[in-house]
Amino acid sequence: MTTTQPRAVAEAAPTFPPGFSFGAATAAYQIEGAVDADGRGPSIWDTFSHTPGRTHEGDTGDVACDHYRRYPEDIALMADLGLDAYRFSVAWPRVMPSGAGRVEQRGLDFYRRLVDGLLDTGITPWLTLYHWDLPQALEDRGGWADRDTALRFADYAAVVHSALGDRVPHWSTLNEPMCSALLGYMAGQHAPGRRDPVAAARAVHHLLLGHGLATRELRAAGADSVGITLNFTPMSAASASPADVDAARRLDGQQNRMFLLPVVTGEYPADVVADLAEAGAPLPVEDGDLDVVATPVDWLGVNYYFRSVVSALPEPTGKATPFIGAERIDDVAPPGPTTTMGWAVTPEAFTDLLLWLRGIAPTLPMVITENGSAWADAPGADGRVEDPERVDYLVRHLAAVAAAMEQGADVRGYFAWSLMDNFEWARGYAQRFGLVHVDYATQRRTPKHSAAVYRDIARRSREA
Ligand code: FCB
Repeated sequence: MTTTQPRAVAEAAPTFPPGFSFGAATAAYQIEGAVDADGRGPSIWDTFSHTPGRTHEGDTGDVACDHYRRYPEDIALMADLGLDAYRFSVAWPRVMPSGAGRVEQRGLDFYRRLVDGLLDTGITPWLTLYHWDLPQALEDRGGWADRDTALRFADYAAVVHSALGDRVPHWSTLNEPMCSALLGYMAGQHAPGRRDPVAAARAVHHLLLGHGLATRELRAAGADSVGITLNFTPMSAASASPADVDAARRLDGQQNRMFLLPVVTGEYPADVVADLAEAGAPLPVEDGDLDVVATPVDWLGVNYYFRSVVSALPEPTGKATPFIGAERIDDVAPPGPTTTMGWAVTPEAFTDLLLWLRGIAPTLPMVITENGSAWADAPGADGRVEDPERVDYLVRHLAAVAAAMEQGADVRGYFAWSLMDNFEWARGYAQRFGLVHVDYATQRRTPKHSAAVYRDIARRSREA
């Protein structure tokens, strides 16, 4: 196979203003492995992945990329990639094995070693407190459907900040509460695997309440760069029929606006509140909650992968849906190529999304906390991993970000998802999102062609 030289591709890519951060992202359960090490407690993802039939081929995060032990090698990889920044998550059950009460110092020590290694290498840590691995003990008490979990999350935030606040500059509360609440409690496709609209709506609100309470704890402890990461999927109607248009409104409401608006305006969108109430799954808002949810943040983390086209059907689709009251709504993939996840490649919608966000929160800086694509990558006979589709996706999505910035969107950085191939949740190890290939049998890491392209795009921007 012939491939373009990284530098040639990088030269075709946009440049970014001085200070723009180029990073890569991971999440604890997807890479760490070592699930029994140093007093870690079980999380809902341990339980879920060990339940037959829940994940692709029964894959679990037991070993994953063994990053818990190999983190020095992984930091060296990041340095070779020329990363400015690294976004990772802390596993709550490593730090508080039963979610509340006793703190496990050995868990905190691991993250301290990781952070110190990053700082020594000149890589800025961006810490996410919650990337889906709720301590199982809290799920046993109701999980995110229980209001108390929000309070426990704020306690945990304070514990992590007291250990790492002197060395981690950037703090994110939650990663993608939409997935935690709606994939976890409504569709049952993610841990804890429940299919209960009432619990799902409760989880939505308690996650956002937890975000607000944790933000207050972090601020009180002196943090001055606090954000939340939301995942956005632009929704459009398959036709101009009123039913399709309403289907797009409903899904856009639950996917995008239900999480964004309370955080930035202090109100849930009225149409979504009505949809959920009508479905018998109201948001359990108590007096004063929305003031807490809207505690000011310093930046918005934006995760973007693809856009969706939706249509209304006369009969229920029979498929599990993460959206409440959406049994008769189907997803029609937009035309064009899809990744191995089955996701469309739609960079133009990324520009529009960033401009829409700017319109809603004009003064809030944005950081692209995830963007990337999965392909069937494999090393060639020479051991190299060529991934032309990922290179194409990366360059086109960076160009989409640059186009939004030219039109006024305030975007401060971009984190590729992901640093390395990892445990892709219910899809297991079959989906490879990494800039770095991982051979799971040997734990050998091999930077893909896209890693070299990304390094050169970043270098060229710094030199511009
Ligand atoms: C996002 C998750 C991340 C990864 C990517 C592909 O929804 O935040 O952990 O699974 O999708």
